[in-house]
Amino acid sequence: SSNNLRTNNFLRHVESMRLHPSGAGHIPYLNAIILGESLATEEDDFVLPSEDFASQANVQSPEQYLKLYKRSIEDPDGFWSEIASQFYWKQRWGDKVCDENFDIRNGNIKIEWFKGGITNICYNCLDRNVEAGLGDKVAIYWEGNEPSLDATLTYSQLLDQVCQLANYLKDIGVKKGDAVIIYLPMLMELPIAMLACARIGAVHSVVFAGFSAEALTQRIIDCKPKVVITCNAVKRGPKAIHLKDIVDTAIHDSAQNGGISIDKCLVYENPSAMKKEDTKWKEGRDIWWQDVTPQYPTTCPVEWVDAEDPLFLLYTSGSTGKPKGVLHTTGGYMVYTATTFKYAFDYKPSDIYWCTADCGWITGHSYVTYGPMLNGASVVVFEGAPSYPDSGRCWDIVDKYKVTIFYTAPTLVRSLMRDGDAFVTRYSRKSLRVLGSVGEPINPSAWRWFYNVVGDSRCPISDTWWQTETGGFMITPLPGAWPQKPGSATFPFFGVQPVIVDEKGIEIEGECNGYLCIKKSWPGAFRTLYGDHERYETTYFKPFAGYYFSGDGCSRDKDGYHWLTGRVDDVINVSGHRIGTAEVESALVSHPQCAEAAVVGVEHEVKGQGIYAFVTVVDGVPYSEQLRKDLILTVRKLIGAFAAPDKIHWAPGLPKTRSGKIMRRILRKIASRQLDELGDTSTLADPSVVNQLIELADS
Ligand code: WTA
Repeated sequence: SSNNLRTNNFLRHVESMRLHPSGAGHIPYLNAIILGESLATEEDDFVLPSEDFASQANVQSPEQYLKLYKRSIEDPDGFWSEIASQFYWKQRWGDKVCDENFDIRNGNIKIEWFKGGITNICYNCLDRNVEAGLGDKVAIYWEGNEPSLDATLTYSQLLDQVCQLANYLKDIGVKKGDAVIIYLPMLMELPIAMLACARIGAVHSVVFAGFSAEALTQRIIDCKPKVVITCNAVKRGPKAIHLKDIVDTAIHDSAQNGGISIDKCLVYENPSAMKKEDTKWKEGRDIWWQDVTPQYPTTCPVEWVDAEDPLFLLYTSGSTGKPKGVLHTTGGYMVYTATTFKYAFDYKPSDIYWCTADCGWITGHSYVTYGPMLNGASVVVFEGAPSYPDSGRCWDIVDKYKVTIFYTAPTLVRSLMRDGDAFVTRYSRKSLRVLGSVGEPINPSAWRWFYNVVGDSRCPISDTWWQTETGGFMITPLPGAWPQKPGSATFPFFGVQPVIVDEKGIEIEGECNGYLCIKKSWPGAFRTLYGDHERYETTYFKPFAGYYFSGDGCSRDKDGYHWLTGRVDDVINVSGHRIGTAEVESALVSHPQCAEAAVVGVEHEVKGQGIYAFVTVVDGVPYSEQLRKDLILTVRKLIGAFAAPDKIHWAPGLPKTRSGKIMRRILRKIASRQLDELGDTSTLADPSVVNQLIELADS
């Protein structure tokens, strides 16, 4: 068939690139694309973009990709400065596009891109597009929780609103470099607030509105914001959640426990969820957004910043201790999010783009707000839940706005798949042309359902592997270029050099399985962990000297395709949300009746991974359903509902080595009931705990 022919052409081409002296052969990474003779007989593994799709795509073939990729590696300065020149710079960067020390053995890690370049990302998202004639183009289609509730903002209206808020923030004393915490649900005001901060050079730190008061407190204490921006309440499905009460508690607690005083709290009235008069209020500190912003001018001069000035902080979970503030700067992040968005989704100006992620996570930063808006895209922002009023809501929205690019997480795909095809096929979805996936590995069966049922076997899927730390896509298909294999994130984006190393940190070539590292910096890389550069180096650059260590496992097949296998550290990925096992454990042990806790991830049909907690109670405390509930409630209260354990397993003792280290390997096996694979338990301080645990497994 023509598919086989095209697959073979592609493979032949890769082969010739590899062998040709001026081809890709001398690029170490491309040497890893080693072709197996058997490929032609395995064409079923491949899903090719249609010829129609490929012929209109931004990158139309593997040849084109390889040419661009090769240039990005051999001449990064030329490659990235050409792209960066498409943006507005008040002043061009100095003589170096990139200045880095990526190898811990040569001293402190330093990453700088476009240093000396003076720009502003808000200007590039809004003013530049308005000046180019896109003023009347819709920037945001907002869809409320209730299907009848919606609104739109054009690029010039968005610019006006951003300027009004920026003027207000300046007026209350927010200056370049100051932190601003934004605790908002998916209202238009969330991207507005982010852009307003960026406009005046303030550093936003968006806290996902599903985090608890305690989690918010921790973040307030860490970054000491000048102001907190929130709303009075939000509706999730049929239920109203009083966000302002949570903020009140967090402001109170951060004063008590951290000595932080927050003088201003800007509150958006979200009338569909809660009335003004029902909102608890602290005179002098609390201000209604709607009362103040209309009084300010709709123009606001831009604060020009250095490419390396901070843009935002976003807290994420690590394997130990408290959440880390991932710091991204301006210039490289701007260039990188815009470029990855354009290529990985094959973006065209006529597209209507919808990403279901919340701006409280990195996906919402890079691919709801910055990446799309830098391209002048029309973006759907959805406040509600995909299951409300029923499981057809996503496709209702797709048809309503004629969405062409739909980007979501495997957990949503799996839960909709479980609810049945009828919810999907009831809608036309004919506007769709590209699908995307992010947050965790997408299993081949979910991939196929997404492809066949949602996309009517017409839309390529961009399975984008990346992280809060990477700022943008790292390994991703380019939808018009690559033959895809369901479940593989395929190949690296331009400028990215992934390597797979063994436990000694030695690069492995060809078909292999190991730890995923990156060899050199890319423009969107994070520059530090806020206030803790040492932890940055220790966590990411020391495990395998010379590389950035992602924390993920990865295998590469004989055709060079990358298959992410999940976290190899103590981080669990629940419904695409990162949670450190240490965080959940410390929440559990804060309960007075919990003596010790050990948390592991287990496979979960919908969430990808579920949270499984082994709990040792204080001597004499009886096991009870009530205690189980209280423990779960404690985690919800200290972190947020999304971190609540799926299972509490009573543990009279935990399997420990003689030196007191918990053997998580054994706990993982017990949690997943792979009892015949427990391995050697003779090195345990007390091997009998294993049998006790097995006995209590289903109690
Ligand atoms: C996982 C989300 C497989 C991975 C953008 C990573 C993925 C962590 C994929 C980062 C994917 C993300 N395939 N795994 N396409 N995308 N991951 O920081 O384990 O919230 O390390 O960033 O999600 O999660 P984070």
